[in-house]
Amino acid sequence: MDLTTPYLGLTLNNPLVASASPANAQIDHLRRLEDAGAAAVVLPSLFEEQVGVAGTRREAILATGIDSNPEMHQHYFPPAHIASGPYGLVPDRYLDLLRRARESLSIPVIASLNGTTPGGWLDFGKQIEQAGAQALEVNLYAVPTDLFESGAAIEERYVRIVQELRGQLGIALCVKMGPYFTNVGNMAQRFVEAGAAGLVVFNRFVQPDIDLHRLKLSSELTLSQAIDMRLPLQWIALLAGRIRASLAASTGVENAEQVIKYLYAGADAVMVTSTVLREGPSCFERLLGGLRAWLEAREVDSLDAIRGAMSFARLKDPVAYTRGQYLDRLQTWSGRHLDA
Ligand SMILES: Cc1cc2nc3c(=O)[nH]c(=O)nc-3n(C[C@H](O)[C@H](O)[C@H](O)COP(=O)(O)O)c2cc1C
Repeated sequence: MDLTTPYLGLTLNNPLVASASPANAQIDHLRRLEDAGAAAVVLPSLFEEQVGVAGTRREAILATGIDSNPEMHQHYFPPAHIASGPYGLVPDRYLDLLRRARESLSIPVIASLNGTTPGGWLDFGKQIEQAGAQALEVNLYAVPTDLFESGAAIEERYVRIVQELRGQLGIALCVKMGPYFTNVGNMAQRFVEAGAAGLVVFNRFVQPDIDLHRLKLSSELTLSQAIDMRLPLQWIALLAGRIRASLAASTGVENAEQVIKYLYAGADAVMVTSTVLREGPSCFERLLGGLRAWLEAREVDSLDAIRGAMSFARLKDPVAYTRGQYLDRLQTWSGRHLDA
């Protein structure tokens, strides 16, 4: 059975990729991912703030009125662990991790930058390429807290980041997007026009909660569940076949079932983080085994036969992808669950 998958100009053994996570900063973990069948790995992100941004530059960023990277500040990068944890990777250590990962693995190694403002830190992309990354993901997202900055201005900044990175890279550039744009498809299109060879749909953001006992903000990171795949599934389906870029689905893959749904929607690659963190690298064996068994049972011998078959572009009646509040569905639900 042929599971070969083209992704970002690379040829992957199968569609399953280990997306960015702190565990991917350990070579032993990366080797176990490869042994279990992961077709590529994404290293944890190096954050804009870590790439030589100190003092005034950092203040300048914060002064834009944006909590410049909530993930970094609240979740992925807790201050107490900056120096020692996986997100304490200063640029030199990041390049070292990247080189060691390349030496140790035969599957592609994708590096990751995470930031929100165009500027000098993006030059680091070149060093990432020189250290051997086969592709670079850039994760773009900030919680806008400035009530006077327009969505258009923020979008423009993101597009400039992609253009600046594209201008200096020979390797493929991939944008890890968030879902919070008025027109996600238009942003996807603009990223591709700016030079992205692929899109990861979507990054998953940790949303804060209030701890009522201690009256404190809590930002505990919760791992995803299969139900969380609905929004990325919808957007993979809406983009597939309509945009000239590789599409990677990210969020909510617990079982082979979610992998198969993403492929039907039109994903090229399917990424996994939460399940790896819960279960360990061996989840790739389980996911691949499930995918193979499902395809074998239906005598499907290539992923091309199913990829995108349930996408917006290929379905005759794709209305469920577009009408969130579709009247029929509301009527059906009410008929089933409410007394007449
Ligand atoms: C603990 C943790 C750390 C993460 N770190 C990063 C990161 O450094 N860079 C990044 O782009 N995404 C990061 N992510 C997001 C994941 O790569 C992934 O996109 C997201 O968790 C959704 O996939 P999942 O449902 O399989 O977990 C992180 C997620 C978790 C749970």
